[in-house]
Amino acid sequence: MTDKRASLAVLCSGRGSNLQAILDAAKKRLIPARVAVVVSDRKDAKALSRALKAGVPAHFLDPRGFLTRHDYDCALVKLLKPYRVNLVCLAGFMRILSPVFVKAYAGRILNIHPALLPAFPGAHAVSEALSWGVKVTGVTVHFVDEKIDHGPIILQEPVAIHEGESEKHLLGRIHCVEHRLYPEAIKRVVAGKAKVRGRQVGKA
Ligand code: GRF
Repeated sequence: MTDKRASLAVLCSGRGSNLQAILDAAKKRLIPARVAVVVSDRKDAKALSRALKAGVPAHFLDPRGFLTRHDYDCALVKLLKPYRVNLVCLAGFMRILSPVFVKAYAGRILNIHPALLPAFPGAHAVSEALSWGVKVTGVTVHFVDEKIDHGPIILQEPVAIHEGESEKHLLGRIHCVEHRLYPEAIKRVVAGKAKVRGRQVGKA
């Protein structure tokens, strides 16, 4: 029998705890999707060993082999092609995607961000939220467009900041939310319940 589940590519640069949450959700059939391939731009990313342990092909694509981001992203498109990917999930992938990649997977790239966008975009969202003194931050899963942390929002969940809370502690609580929210967002997208109309994302 053919596997009718959606094929995901997950791109990671580090720990891969969100990858693990997606792998686990797929294994338990909580999402109608399977991880077809994992790619990292860092050789030592724990995400790669997590993929291999789950029996998923894992590739290290070394940025040092390419002169420009465009060239790297062309190679990434080429690498993913044979896997016939339906959806690309960025999970801590610390590279800015160039138009060539965003166009190749237009409307089919998701990202998870550890803040309530549009607040605190960029790579230091958790420490910036703490230094700003906000009382509530959270998690956002959104479609990716050509701007950083900018595309239409699929799901968000607030996380209240405790008085005197350390960054490490807050990060841990944010991760717990992420691990639930990312599979849920994937489920919605695959089920066609996350249609984009301008900046709005919904069933219609
Ligand atoms: C997550 O906090 C995610 O929001 C951000 O990068 C982090 C990746 O963590 N984009 P992990 O590699 O999934 O553990």
